[in-house]
Amino acid sequence: MASPDVLARVTALRQEIKRHNTAYYVLDQPTIPDAEYDRLFRELQTLEADNPELCTPDSPTQRVGGKPLDGFRKVRHAVPMLSIRTETDTEASGAQAFDVRVRKELGLSESDPAVEYAAELKFDGFAINLRYEHGVLVQAATRGDGETGEDVTQNIRTVHAIPLRLKNGPPPAVLEVRGEVFMRRDDFERYNASQRTAGKSTLVNPRNGAAGSIRQLDPRLAAQRQLSFFAYGLGETQGWIKAPDTHSDTLTALEKMGVPVCNERITGLGAAALIAFHDDIAARRDQLPFDIDGVVYKVNRVDLQRRLGFVTREPRWAVAHKYPAQEALTTVLGIDVQVGRTGKLTPVARLAPVFVGGVTVTNATLHNQDEIDRKDVRVGDTVIVRRAGDVIPEVVASVLQRRPQPAPPRFDILEACPVCPECGSHVVRLDGEAATRCTGGLVCPAQRKQALLHFASRRAMDIEGLGDKLVDQLVDLGLLHTPADVYGLKQETLAGLNRMAEKSAANLLAAIETSKATTLARFIFALGIRNVGETTAKDLARHFGSLDRLMSASEADLLAVHDVGPIVAQSIQQFFAEPHNREVIATLRAAGVHWPESTGLQQSAGMLAGKTLVLTGTLPTLSRDAAKDRIEAAGGKVAGSVSKKTDYVVAGAEAGSKLDKAQQLGVAILDEAGLLALLASAETSGQGSLNF
Ligand code: IVH
Repeated sequence: MASPDVLARVTALRQEIKRHNTAYYVLDQPTIPDAEYDRLFRELQTLEADNPELCTPDSPTQRVGGKPLDGFRKVRHAVPMLSIRTETDTEASGAQAFDVRVRKELGLSESDPAVEYAAELKFDGFAINLRYEHGVLVQAATRGDGETGEDVTQNIRTVHAIPLRLKNGPPPAVLEVRGEVFMRRDDFERYNASQRTAGKSTLVNPRNGAAGSIRQLDPRLAAQRQLSFFAYGLGETQGWIKAPDTHSDTLTALEKMGVPVCNERITGLGAAALIAFHDDIAARRDQLPFDIDGVVYKVNRVDLQRRLGFVTREPRWAVAHKYPAQEALTTVLGIDVQVGRTGKLTPVARLAPVFVGGVTVTNATLHNQDEIDRKDVRVGDTVIVRRAGDVIPEVVASVLQRRPQPAPPRFDILEACPVCPECGSHVVRLDGEAATRCTGGLVCPAQRKQALLHFASRRAMDIEGLGDKLVDQLVDLGLLHTPADVYGLKQETLAGLNRMAEKSAANLLAAIETSKATTLARFIFALGIRNVGETTAKDLARHFGSLDRLMSASEADLLAVHDVGPIVAQSIQQFFAEPHNREVIATLRAAGVHWPESTGLQQSAGMLAGKTLVLTGTLPTLSRDAAKDRIEAAGGKVAGSVSKKTDYVVAGAEAGSKLDKAQQLGVAILDEAGLLALLASAETSGQGSLNF
């Protein structure tokens, strides 16, 4: 008889496993990492094996997990979809143990020849049974509890890798293909990146991406995720004239019919072949384009498989040999904020050290405020951390059930970091942007190298010779902090650097000197203001004519500039509002950086000021909006109808009644060339000579 303690433990384990099963299979919201789930499951299996009287038919060990959603039609599997025994010993001895068991069950002695095995990958996705009748896909079903699954044919049809018709016929009358639907890592990353940009929820891991998509009631939503498929076995078959007699030939036959089969597979003799495969894949696991959680070994000959048969729901002829988990549980010790090369502030969870994906992880990115909010990660929380492939470790979810009470406060980047932790400049989050950013573009050490390279680049200040290797050296030696320091560099300092001959030092100093005489447009572009590219810099220079006017422009002034919208206007204002940036600009000017200034368009508006123009027809190059912008920038007004007060009518192709009216009233008529000439005279007369 089992002791009361054992009975209590078995009951507790069953309850906990059932809860995790529901969270994982039904709600698609895993509460613990797979490895921990496996541990609980194995503990229950062991207790039940030692105390058979405790093993009841409703124990989670007696089913595969998950039950059909109400929304899908139920499908009874012609051949049950079985589970597979998991060898939790991740060392080579795991493969040895399998071979020993197989040989024993087959009654082989040491002197008998080695057993032939097939070894393949254990895909981390979602099991599917595809039923082809006379070569046509008629039904796709999930595993469900192994006996009864869900009809997900509609969703499976959205997976392009799965053929709707088998090729190279004639096909068997019935052929059920079993395999795994999964999401490649690149498809997963791409999907999450686009969700993040759209401010929508992200997927926890590729496995969930695949499962959630297949069990989605709306096939249009399923179709939004790129899924893949690999076959690994068969269900029911009827009328297969030359049914293969090994597992490896079965996969090859499926491949010939157009069913995707992974080519990372081997056949080999005895445990040695399995161990070699296990080690080979372990070494390359991170480079695979998709997640695996182990490899699978199968006795290759179908007749031997039949002889070995099944125990409960697991075949004796197959085993999954796991790798160390890529997800683990740990606690969040704190949340730090790091500043990236572009000034983006990234929240990073500091974690209690945990071994995951083959390394000890102590930090994991939380991406941005939206992600923190969505995952609701707080200091003190127990979290699931994931490290797959070379991807940087990530917190995938907080385990809310384990949150300390009273609950710690939510983490807010702007509250924790009102100023940049690197340079003390103020920190902002622009409307509609996920990122929180430092505004100290010119002074922030985190952004220094990038800012300097941009400043010196050909289309900005054009300082030839100030490339990335030199910037790296100068910054690392503490000789360059801000762009203003470029103009204080001395021949002696430069000549003492690595790989810097006297001649090249002199050339660089000459290039620096030459760069002092620049244009306002280049200078604005060189500042590296977020969202201000070369074209916007030119528009700003033309419009304001002077740096001081740009620096003191109000939002309304900025919005009057061609192509400047609220985001760009905000970026510009925030950049110049930062005192550190203003200081650097003052130092640059004091060092002799100069450009010709002008009165700009605002002041020159007089040329078209008070003039009313009407646009009609299609102009050869200018869009209606562009023409309107240009006219307004020059101070003119664009009206919708022609009257005696109209000064000019600008007529393009297929001009209609407005042109007739202009002719009747004797209003001056221009074509596009005429308009451009008028604008050019308005612009130059106000600007003097601006050279862009
Ligand atoms: S064979 C009778 N081969 O792992 C043996 N399964 O717990 C049936 N899986 O439900 C499974 N890769 O979803 C097999 N190469 C592979 C596999 C594989 C992934 C999944 C499958 C199955 C589960 C076993």
